[in-house]
Amino acid sequence: MKSKNKKTLVIGAGGQIGKILIEQLENKGSSVVALVRSESKAQKFADLGVETVIADLEGDFEHAFKGCDSVVFTAGSGGSTGDDKTLLIDLWAAAKAIDYAKKNNIQHFVMVSGLGAANPDEFVTEIKPYLVAKHFADRYLMESGLPYTILRPGSLINDNGTGLIRTSRPAKFSDLIIPREDVASVINYSLSNNKMKGKVVEFFSGNESIDTVFDI
Ligand SMILES: NC(=O)c1ccc[n+]([C@@H]2O[C@H](COP(=O)([O-])OP(=O)(O)OC[C@H]3O[C@@H](n4cnc5c(N)ncnc54)[C@H](OP(=O)(O)O)[C@@H]3O)[C@@H](O)[C@H]2O)c1
Repeated sequence: MKSKNKKTLVIGAGGQIGKILIEQLENKGSSVVALVRSESKAQKFADLGVETVIADLEGDFEHAFKGCDSVVFTAGSGGSTGDDKTLLIDLWAAAKAIDYAKKNNIQHFVMVSGLGAANPDEFVTEIKPYLVAKHFADRYLMESGLPYTILRPGSLINDNGTGLIRTSRPAKFSDLIIPREDVASVINYSLSNNKMKGKVVEFFSGNESIDTVFDI
């Protein structure tokens, strides 16, 4: 069953996935609020007619949640910062967002997590601290009582999206990838389909449409 159009707060709107997602949501006429931390990014969205909130995720950002029905957390500390920012953004800011969502009666929280967050010991990788942060942010969301969708895409690439995905892991490690545009499409799909609530899904580039893959 499709849910009605609601107002969505996108946390990390100025990021690579965030920008594509905002464009997709705007194109389909959805109501969105873009949370960004700089005036310049806010101005770019404002020029496109997108409602913006300026906030630093290291501080209080509850004001951004007012009047919103759903939330997407696609912020991240990124690969060029240290483990301090991993703790402060990927874990602590995510946990604060979950608390704010509960206080503000958010009806759907979509978390952009990542492959390996289920079990940070599974892969030998230098990003293990990040995976631990994502693991506990995901667990906090699952235990929050909020309706949630946790998305665990493979490594992100900047190729054009194909709209074709798979949820089973490809055999080759190098195939555990997905274009950011397709991740945005899966977020978008999750926001408008109640059947995605309560799901934790890994996904990669594949050969089936998003609708077919999740038509379960
Ligand atoms: N890289 C991968 O292969 C991979 C795989 C699976 C999942 N993921 C997850 O997917 C997420 C989104 O990916 P992406 O490529 O879109 O990332 P991105 O381009 O780095 O976007 C992250 C966003 O978070 C924002 N942010 C960071 N700290 C902030 C703060 N203190 N206050 C406000 N905003 C803050 C950044 O703001 P600014 O624009 O101001 O810097 C940026 O817009 C990642 O963060 C990661 O958790 C990544």
